[in-house]
Amino acid sequence: MTAALEVKDLNRSFGALSVTRDVNLALERGARHALIGPNGAGKTTLINLITGALKPNSGSVLLNGEDITAIGQADRARRGLARTFQINQLFRGLTVLENLCMTIGERDGHCNNLWRSAGARRVVIDEALDHLQSLRLVDDALKLVRELPYGRQRLVEIAIALAQRPRVLLLDEPAAGVPSSESHLILDVVAALDPEIAVLIIEHDMDVVFRFAKEITVLVQGAVFTKGTPKEIQANADVRAVYLGEESGLGGTRHG
Ligand SMILES: Nc1ncnc2c1ncn2[C@@H]1O[C@H](COP(=O)(O)OP(=O)(O)OP(=O)(O)O)[C@@H](O)[C@H]1O
Ligand SMILES: [Mg+2]
Repeated sequence: MTAALEVKDLNRSFGALSVTRDVNLALERGARHALIGPNGAGKTTLINLITGALKPNSGSVLLNGEDITAIGQADRARRGLARTFQINQLFRGLTVLENLCMTIGERDGHCNNLWRSAGARRVVIDEALDHLQSLRLVDDALKLVRELPYGRQRLVEIAIALAQRPRVLLLDEPAAGVPSSESHLILDVVAALDPEIAVLIIEHDMDVVFRFAKEITVLVQGAVFTKGTPKEIQANADVRAVYLGEESGLGGTRHG
């Protein structure tokens, strides 16, 4: 079966600093894959290479078997690759609904004439409201993003990623910076994602990782240190030593 996402022998350095070293990774359709590793291991850089925000020095990225290494971010998004950011990148001065409508308009390629036809506008707004409904964000539709608590902003970010109708979704610490009183809302949404979507999540909270992921890749100093099921990673003494620390007992929470 063709992998939904495949990363082959990827390398990237910044000057003398090698931050991605011969990384190989494959996600099948519907994968639930966690990428873990210490701060500065190169996790976000890897996502940036996958989305095209960064160009690799060598290696390739394949989406549903198609080599997308040479194409830009927008084209990758159109082919079904969506991401959320470690620090969110919403239009904070627009309403939640406007943010969603812009994404849908862009996806369908009628961004420029979206507001010319009442029919097109209705269809887009209805779809935007559906996405907001499924994430229980309808009550916030007409609020400016900047007025929302941070946890809800992060949910809007996920709504926007889902509005792109992705086949592969990359989540960079979706609950980072969110108080624990709200983070369960985000983790519930992540747990309930469409089983057809292949998901790669970066997450420091090991409880979340072990509950969500079926496969885990451990990245250390830019290279894949090991891969395995949650059980295998949990039992791996080397992972404990280099990343989690014996004293953490693998149950602890690290914040990036
Ligand atoms: N644009 C850049 N220029 C130079 N160095 C960079 C750049 N982006 C990242 N780095 C370096 O690359 C390394 C990997 O950074 P990256 O942000 O990918 O780590 P990370 O695993 O996501 O860490 P964290 O868990 O803290 O989010 C770090 O040493 C970082 O300083
Ligand atoms: Mg990061």
